[in-house]
Amino acid sequence: MANILVVDDDKNILRLLEFSLKRAGHTVTICDDGVQGLAQVKAQAPDLIVADVMMPKMTGYDFCKQVRTNLSLSELPIIMFSARFQPIDKQTALDAGATDYLSKNTSPDVLVARINELLPAKPAGPTTQATIGLFSLRGGTGVTTLTVNLALALALTKKAPTTLVDLAPLGGHAALMLGLRPTSSVADALFASKDDVALETVKPHLIQHASGVQLLASALNYDHLLYLGDKRLEQLVTTLKLSFAYTILDIPPLLEPRSGAMLQLFDKIGLVLAPDMPSLQSVAVALQGLVRLGVADNKIVLIVNNILPQGGLPLEVIQKTLKRPVLASIPYEAEMVKAVNSGKPLLLSSPQSPAAAAMAKLANSLLG
Ligand SMILES: Nc1ncnc2c1ncn2[C@@H]1O[C@H](COP(=O)(O)OP(=O)(O)OP(=O)(O)O)[C@@H](O)[C@H]1O
Ligand SMILES: [Mg+2]
Repeated sequence: MANILVVDDDKNILRLLEFSLKRAGHTVTICDDGVQGLAQVKAQAPDLIVADVMMPKMTGYDFCKQVRTNLSLSELPIIMFSARFQPIDKQTALDAGATDYLSKNTSPDVLVARINELLPAKPAGPTTQATIGLFSLRGGTGVTTLTVNLALALALTKKAPTTLVDLAPLGGHAALMLGLRPTSSVADALFASKDDVALETVKPHLIQHASGVQLLASALNYDHLLYLGDKRLEQLVTTLKLSFAYTILDIPPLLEPRSGAMLQLFDKIGLVLAPDMPSLQSVAVALQGLVRLGVADNKIVLIVNNILPQGGLPLEVIQKTLKRPVLASIPYEAEMVKAVNSGKPLLLSSPQSPAAAAMAKLANSLLG
């Protein structure tokens, strides 16, 4: 995914390139002459430029020279894209500093392939793997709502394999919130495994959501009750961790000694709290319990979720009482209930809302 600037005065070419490049996953900025193009490069240098030769105000050759000399962008790939295709034209373009010269008869697919070749390899980013659990000893603080939206945010923005695991022993709500009807559950995935929990055994139990999120749902039938102390749960989390970029877990409000080994596998545990006194008490107890179960203190973060429209404790009071910073505060959102009832999480039904934006931002913060 790169930022590509296309400079051409031919509207049809602009439209065609914009379409092909966007389809290939790039962001496209278009300018219809070189003067505008230079201003755009100055404002925000793109990752690559495609420029026409014959344009009003300034030729593509001059545009190219100016990018190289005036703007000192000597490494920026520039492809000149022209209707004129004589050897001399190509030479003039290369002399002006173009990286390559292609004829406008070149098919869009070939142009896109050449663009992808010329784009500088992105440096390996920070770790692309994360296992994140959200937890609250107090019910109803929005743990499931947040896990579902976090998983969506990661699957949609990072476009990386993401799995969501609803660890509620029975009747969890993640599937419902995603508008999915589970035919299988986490417990089924465990029962299907004998000694080790291999990905092949787990796969048939993953339920696909259109966003790309794969869900391991909570059972809806008492016969399939999940036992959190099950040793295989630890193996399941290890397998998911190795197979998916992101594994997001909805942890039920229990702190059993036998689930310690599983909780230690998480990279982050978000303690979700409403801005009220019962939540403060629950967080204090949960902190003590998690640390006792072997979870490193620096993996635990606080997330305030404003489930009520008003009357909550101020953030400063929460931070002062718990002697910890709050990683994120999700605003109250009246549409949340509608999102739950329609099976379309807020991130999809109302992505512009402040709460959706806060949850998308939280997804990134949790990776840090
Ligand atoms: N930021 C918010 N603004 C308004 N309503 C919210 C917000 N977050 C969650 N809710 C609502 O709060 C209710 C409880 O949310 P949710 O089921 O996610 O909580 P939970 O902690 O998973 O509960 P449980 O303890 O039952 O598992 C839902 O109706 C949800 O729509
Ligand atoms: Mg829940």
